[in-house]
Amino acid sequence: MNKRVTVPDVIASKGKRKLTMLTAYDFPTARWVDQSGMDMVLVGDSLAMVVLGHEDTLSVGMAEMIHHTKAVSRAVERALVVGDMPFLSYQASIEQAVLNAGRFLKEGRAQAVKLEGGARVLPQVSAIVAAGIPVQGHLGLTPQSAAQFGGFKVQGKTAEAAKILIEDAQELAAAGCFSIVLEAIPAPIAARITEAVPVPTIGIGAGRDCDGQVLVIHDVLGLFDRFVPKFVKQYAHLGTNIQEALTRYREEVANGVFPGPEHTFNFDVKEAEKL
Ligand code: KIV
Repeated sequence: MNKRVTVPDVIASKGKRKLTMLTAYDFPTARWVDQSGMDMVLVGDSLAMVVLGHEDTLSVGMAEMIHHTKAVSRAVERALVVGDMPFLSYQASIEQAVLNAGRFLKEGRAQAVKLEGGARVLPQVSAIVAAGIPVQGHLGLTPQSAAQFGGFKVQGKTAEAAKILIEDAQELAAAGCFSIVLEAIPAPIAARITEAVPVPTIGIGAGRDCDGQVLVIHDVLGLFDRFVPKFVKQYAHLGTNIQEALTRYREEVANGVFPGPEHTFNFDVKEAEKL
């Protein structure tokens, strides 16, 4: 096994090499992601949409997130596991934020947590970091606030909005975030943010100048067909392969082709005579 990726490794990579991050939500998938050499595995609250079938990320809670983080942590030997703090697990109070962040490490066995937002979550970020828990920030299209944005829309499109994003990123870094996810932000603005902060930025729909990239594994593998965001590249179409395999299985059972002799246990002829 290669050396485990640590938070200091992630920080030290800035300006030296691109960081790679992908989501995973269960044991077998997390093993594949880890074995692909990914730096970070995010147990994202996108779980709500791509695994649990919800319309958005709001419905998923701490119980589900911890359950899935445990499965991922059992599988991952090398990558840094980041647990995504779900809606209302950190917004209501600083104390709740610290206790819930702690659960990701203590019960989920993650090495860090991610939470969404800029200036308004700084007190939570500072308190969680002060408790010894590494925090990854998340700016731009933060899906937990999609209702406020009027949907899943690109953020930072005006000079005023872009300035706020740059300031938010600097404040998150000053509050102790070890990296910041930038989601659905015009590439030139993400590049400006990347230059303006001392910690790595991890882009998703934020162009190639970020310090690293993250995507949702179901999008990368073609396993989620409700919609495919513009920033996604599908590296496989496993949904189609699965559909074909399952149709063949159903047809072979219906036609008596499966199971064949090679899948069948025989009974000794002499024993059969005694029946
Ligand atoms: O929940 C998630 O998968 C995320 C990524 C899109 C960054 O937050």
